[in-house]
Amino acid sequence: MDDRSGIRLNRRTFVGASLALGGAVASAPGVAGCEGAEHGHDESQTAVVRVQINGQRREFTVDNRMSLLDMLRERAGLPGTKKGCDQGACGACTVLVNDRRINSCLTLAVMHDGARVTTIEGVAGDHGLHPLQQAFIDEDAFQCGYCTPGQIVSGIGCIAEGHAREPAEIRQWMSGNLCRCGAYTNIVRAVAKAAGTR
Ligand code: FES
Ligand code: FES
Repeated sequence: MDDRSGIRLNRRTFVGASLALGGAVASAPGVAGCEGAEHGHDESQTAVVRVQINGQRREFTVDNRMSLLDMLRERAGLPGTKKGCDQGACGACTVLVNDRRINSCLTLAVMHDGARVTTIEGVAGDHGLHPLQQAFIDEDAFQCGYCTPGQIVSGIGCIAEGHAREPAEIRQWMSGNLCRCGAYTNIVRAVAKAAGTR
């Protein structure tokens, strides 16, 4: 690529020059978010997220690109929510946000400022296990257990949505949660038991 002054630019040098120009603009007086940019500490790339996790108010300063899953596991110290695929295909990372189940690997932490988040660590009550946790034990609904936190949180959501009236419906509405061990039959039985539909 040639410019008019005759300086030869290939794609790499052109991108580098563009970034340098961007840095110069960002360093200009009155341009927000410039401090520390040269040193990789651009505060414009971080945000404060205030959330209520399992009933506790928490606050984190996170990189804008951090997923909710990574914030829970790496910043909040809650590793119960599992990272299976990290791309929305397995459901191992399922949590409840404002009582709705979502794949926490597919959503940015900064999108949930002010939200209520429930993870597997928060589903048991003061008097013992959540009924669905107990049903998983009673029905032998897991083998390796890796998918189990996501299955249980998703099952709680499935029941709350009214999608656990019969086995076929449970299978459909739990289909986003994969179990590589193939414990599906017992998982469906456990969800139905907790829902009181069997
Ligand atoms: Fe999120 Fe698999 S880890 S869907
Ligand atoms: Fe092993 Fe679900 S119990 S993947």
